[in-house]
Amino acid sequence: QTSAPTEPHRPRFHFSPKAHWMNDPNGMVYHKGVYHLFFQYYPDGTTWGPMHWGHATSADMLHWREEAIALYPDSLGYIFSGSAVVDVNNTSGFGRNGQVPLVAIFTHHNPKLEKAKSEKFQYQSLAYSLDDGKTWTKYTGNPVLPNPGIVDFRDPKVRWYEPAKQWIMTLATKDRVTFYTSPDLKNWTKASEFGRDLGAHGGVWECPDLFPLQHKGKTVWVLLVSINPGGPNGGSATQYFLGDFDGKTFKPYNKASQWMDFGPDNYAGVTFANTGNRTVLMGWMSNWQYAQQVPTDPWRSATTVPRELSIREVGNELYLASNPVAELNTLAAKPTTLNSVSVKGQYDLTPTVGKLTGPFRLTFTASATEDVSVVLTNDAGNELVIGYDKTANAYFIDRSRSGKTSFEKGFGKRNTAPRLATDKTLTMTLLVDVASVELFADNGLSVLTSNFFPEGDMSRISLRSASGATVKKLTYATLTSTLP
Ligand code: FRU
Repeated sequence: QTSAPTEPHRPRFHFSPKAHWMNDPNGMVYHKGVYHLFFQYYPDGTTWGPMHWGHATSADMLHWREEAIALYPDSLGYIFSGSAVVDVNNTSGFGRNGQVPLVAIFTHHNPKLEKAKSEKFQYQSLAYSLDDGKTWTKYTGNPVLPNPGIVDFRDPKVRWYEPAKQWIMTLATKDRVTFYTSPDLKNWTKASEFGRDLGAHGGVWECPDLFPLQHKGKTVWVLLVSINPGGPNGGSATQYFLGDFDGKTFKPYNKASQWMDFGPDNYAGVTFANTGNRTVLMGWMSNWQYAQQVPTDPWRSATTVPRELSIREVGNELYLASNPVAELNTLAAKPTTLNSVSVKGQYDLTPTVGKLTGPFRLTFTASATEDVSVVLTNDAGNELVIGYDKTANAYFIDRSRSGKTSFEKGFGKRNTAPRLATDKTLTMTLLVDVASVELFADNGLSVLTSNFFPEGDMSRISLRSASGATVKKLTYATLTSTLP
């Protein structure tokens, strides 16, 4: 089936609110078999407004159920981005009768103070839940981290640091990240700052995250920092640093940062708390450059597919790789497989895989010495091209002729990501939903996420190569729609 005529562009396997405006994912936590997603939400319109935390739950991070709004603005301000933790040891004392509290740590943004030209209009506060995330109570002692006089002072991401038996808060503080420590989530001590002279600074630093990953028996700490604007393809994007962390200070291996996702539409992504040995990230699948203009109604924005993060080595360099979570396999129908397709010019895959009827996953390998791309088209003459450009040694998504693009002048263009892998054979995995494509190249080393808004769902798929290419090990599988 194609998009419901009343809701063109409604994603099928990505979360989007039933109605109204959404931006950053917040407070993502896995608890008692349920994934919780909270999100920046404005329930009275389809553009940004006084922020609430919306709420959705899922057993697999793919089928989401929207729940009641979790946090409403109050006298201290709007509810900006933040995180949630399972306070297993009840360090906060919010727990009662053995019930483990979920604690949300978020930014209060006070519009009155902002208007009064005070610098101190953002500060950090707490709320807790004693019914496994259903309802939330704000802490009467808010704020727990007052503003020291920094205009951009927000987006606390908190995790437990076992060696020191304390909580670590990673906070975006304008042009750097500041780390704080706390025994109880209520009393915070500044530990260190990072990044004023390092990494990309094309815009304000927002929504950081700090977490360890294992690589060859060694712990590598990852520091994510979203910046807006200043992304590699314009507008919002997320950079990362790899390094060591000792509970107080982050020491990067390199001075330069890397991009977690080169595409224009993965912003403010952070990881779920409490997922054990897995580290799973979801981002906001949009860009501040045009998020409030995209042609969807009655909602705006979706999250990216959940991605498992890992460290990969290329030559002597370490990189952060992102790949769709294994749960995605449960949506995939029996695949169509082709072992070798010789492409010169255009090769129509539609007769083989059937007319496109919604989401699908396509994977193939090809030689990195040849140009190769995938072309999606519809009856309206729209075209979306996802491919590899051998001359530039780069992947790209060209949405310049993908349908509705005129709502913002920077939208309709070709976005690129360098190829970081060095082996001769390249791999491309595409996840295509009604209005988005996520490209995971070389097993998650080069990632590009892009929205598109066709004038009628894409219905045909072709391979294209001007130089001539041999596409190998191609598998195509439809992904089950989650629409009722
Ligand atoms: C990032 C951001 C955050 C802020 C929130 C407000 O997209 O600007 O820094 O907390 O959105 O909605």
